[in-house]
Order: sequence, then structure tokens, then C-alpha cells
Amino acid sequence: MDKQAELAVVRAAYAKQILAAAGVTDARLAQAFAAIHREDFVGPGPWLIIRWLRNYVPTPDADPVYLYTDDLVALVPERRLNNGQPSLHAHLIHQAQPAASEHVVHVGTGAGYYTALLAHLVGPSGRVTAIEYDADLAARARANLAPYAHVTVIEGDGTQVPFDAADVIYVNAGCTRPATRWLDGLADGGRLIMPMTSDQGFNHAAPERIASTGAVFRIERRGADYLAKWISPVAIFHCAGGRDENSERALAEAFACGGWDKVTRLYRDDDIPDERCWVRGAGWSLAYH
Ligand SMILES: C[S@@+](CC[C@H](N)C(=O)[O-])C[C@H]1O[C@@H](n2cnc3c(N)ncnc32)[C@H](O)[C@@H]1O
Repeated sequence: MDKQAELAVVRAAYAKQILAAAGVTDARLAQAFAAIHREDFVGPGPWLIIRWLRNYVPTPDADPVYLYTDDLVALVPERRLNNGQPSLHAHLIHQAQPAASEHVVHVGTGAGYYTALLAHLVGPSGRVTAIEYDADLAARARANLAPYAHVTVIEGDGTQVPFDAADVIYVNAGCTRPATRWLDGLADGGRLIMPMTSDQGFNHAAPERIASTGAVFRIERRGADYLAKWISPVAIFHCAGGRDENSERALAEAFACGGWDKVTRLYRDDDIPDERCWVRGAGWSLAYH
């Protein structure tokens, strides 16, 4: 079997394994995982992969077959900045449900692997606005995503960069509060996938503590209302511009009290009665009803 045929088989098996690990049945998403070449987005091999006990282990050589596991792959190892875990993204993207022709805003695109997946899902009649804060990574993403005419890569702070109304805003970095830009920029019916992490949520978190240091919420806009639900624990790189001391403190206290999984609404005010409120910051709250 020639190498490309072998990799096509490996990618198809990987897609099945990743969706199974995520507990997701989604034929379009499986097809996207099978179609996108991870080796086109993580730099030249051999690669550093996070294996057991969260250490980097080099792949034996530059055979792309090693990239098709449910592991994180180093993008900037000295900062422990990685291409994220495929099954986590399968779960989160499935929750976002990017449909053909939609506009997706991807905040924290890294070198572009999951942006390519999103671009595949919305198809050429849709588009993806990819925003990356780190200049080197933004340049890598721009080069890697050049074949995708319906993807625009912007170097900048995704909490501030203006964008057209979005059907999906897919945030891949941990914030302590929702950015006004995201809540304003969500189209009616749009879905925001937003990781919220305390300062213990990256590097420091022991695996058994991750649920009480980081939570991903799915926010769906319905007119002036924002429905909210907890969809995953998470440990993730901090979101530049998406954090401040006061909301970090409030979030850490809320995590200590539990109840994140009972959140049903995001309000754009901080006047919600205590008994209904999981966490509040200046001008926003996540609440139970
Ligand atoms: C955990 S990495 C994920 C990268 C990519 N999604 C992947 O899995 O390959 C988080 C990324 O978010 C970027 N980032 C952090 N804050 C950001 C912001 N405010 N706007 C845009 N990107 C940001 C970081 O530079 C980093 O590349």
C-alpha cells in the first residue's frame, strides 16, 4: 500500500476512535476528522506529543501516522502551547454544530488544525474568521490555511477584534468572563463555546481537579436572551484579554462551591439574586434560571 493510501486508512480509523472517545455520533464531523491532514498544521516532524503523565515524548520519526491518536501535539513546547486534544474538540465542535454556509469565528486558532476542520464543516459557501493573538502562530496559521479561500486569519486579540455576526464563536483559550464582543457578535440562534478557567486551570491542575478549575459553557443566543449550559471540564491555555483579577476571584469562589453544571442562563447584568447566581462579574452573570 502506498503511503497516502495508508494514511487515508489511518485517518478514517482515527476519526472513528476520536468520536467514540468523545461519545459523539456525528457523521459530518467524523468525515471532517478523516479529511483534514493534521501533519499540515503542526510543523515538520518528528513531533513532541504529550503522553502519559503529561510529558512531551518525541515521535520515533516524522511518519504522520503518529499524529493520529487522541493526544496533544506541541506547537510551541517552551510555552507548553499545544494543538489540543482531538476528542475534546470533537465534543465541543459537536456541541457548536457548525452547519453548511454558516460563519464561524475561531478565537485561538493556533496553527490552524481545528480551523481547517471548522472550514470543512461550513463548506465553501460558509466562512471562518480565525483570530490568533501570537504573531508567529498567526503567521503559521495563515500559511497552513492558504488553500482555504473561505478562511481569513487575523492576528490580534479575539476579545477585541471586530467581526461580522457569527453563527458560531469557538473560543480555544480560558477566560474568566465573557467578552462583550462575543455576546454582541453572536447572531440570533448563534452558539458561543466558551472555556472559563480559574488560575489553577492550566499546568497546575491535577487531572482529578480539572472539573473544579475549568468549565466549558455553550451559550446560545435567542433574541435578547442567552441560554447557557455546562458541556465539559477543561484545562486550557489562558485567553489574553479575557481575564481580570475580580472575575478570576469570583470564578475561583464559584468553582469552590460547585453547581456549574446547573447553570442555564447567561445574563448581561450583575443584579441577579444570590440564590439564582453561580458567578457574577461587572455587567454579567451565569445563573440557574
Ligand atoms: C490551547 S492553544 C490552542 C491552539 C489551537 N486551537 C489548537 O488546538 O491547535 C490557545 C491559543 O489561543 C491563543 N490565544 C490566547 N488568547 C487569545 C486571544 N485573546 N485572541 C486570540 N488568540 C488567543 C494562544 O496564543 C494559543 O495559540
